[in-house]
Amino acid sequence: MEFVQIDRKDGLAIVTITREAKLNALNAGVVDDLETAFREMHADDGIRVVILTGAGEKAFVAGADISQFPSLTPEEAEAFAQRGQAVLDLIESTPKPVIAAVNGFALGGGCELAMTCHLRYAAESATFGQPEVKLGVIAGYGGTQRLPRLIGSGRALDMLLSGRMVKAAEAYDFGLVNGVFPADQLLAEVEKIAGKLMTVGPQAQRYTLQAVQAGAGKPLSDGLAAEARAFRDVFTTEDHIEGAKAFLERRDPEFKNR
Ligand code: COA
Repeated sequence: MEFVQIDRKDGLAIVTITREAKLNALNAGVVDDLETAFREMHADDGIRVVILTGAGEKAFVAGADISQFPSLTPEEAEAFAQRGQAVLDLIESTPKPVIAAVNGFALGGGCELAMTCHLRYAAESATFGQPEVKLGVIAGYGGTQRLPRLIGSGRALDMLLSGRMVKAAEAYDFGLVNGVFPADQLLAEVEKIAGKLMTVGPQAQRYTLQAVQAGAGKPLSDGLAAEARAFRDVFTTEDHIEGAKAFLERRDPEFKNR
């Protein structure tokens, strides 16, 4: 892959967008490579947790590639949004935890990409924003939908209508990120968090993600029905027997991801 690198270590995959000279802006090639990388994340049972980050110290992702915008017809613009949305949906539906390590600017498509990850941690120097209105366009990779769901419509509309940038500390206050670390410690701290996530049941995490996503945007009764189905399905796994057995035998569980 030209724009995405995957580094694996002991069940962890670090997926890095490597278009540093353009602040990791999402051109068609980056979007294609993200699709390839996350298809692999879905399929590879040896990978337990995924970290998504951007190359360099300056940017996670500074947005969709603006140089593509002027030539788009309205129909092409719709297809452009749908393509990005589909790849971000693929990332969100990864059946194992995906953590964004936001190492700098997360603007436009970058903020949207971070929001499709299940957890987000930011460097103190990171900046979030949906600056599309400053360019006379709107968020198209899910920002108008995921941001209000994540931080509430008042705060989301503040960001979406003004295009203003939000520093990591404010993003943490909003609940947009789960934690903030000094920039030089971000990746190490996120790897520690990933390590902890690898000690619990992978099948349980998979069904938790499935239940949460099945209920998103649905009436509570639909979500509860989805949860009951996922609860049933987790009882078809070997890991649920091991979890209870290990507790009763006062030892650490040895989950097999089965
Ligand atoms: N699309 C395409 N190229 C981008 C980009 C984007 N979203 N964001 C940055 N780049 C490119 C710049 O054009 C520049 O390329 P060049 O060196 O060939 O001229 C390079 O990345 C470095 O960016 P630069 O603007 O010089 O860095 P800076 O430190 O002065 O500013 C930002 C950083 C993030 C404030 C600024 O790049 C910016 O505002 N980017 C666009 C953010 C945005 O509106 N995103 C939403 C898009 S819908």
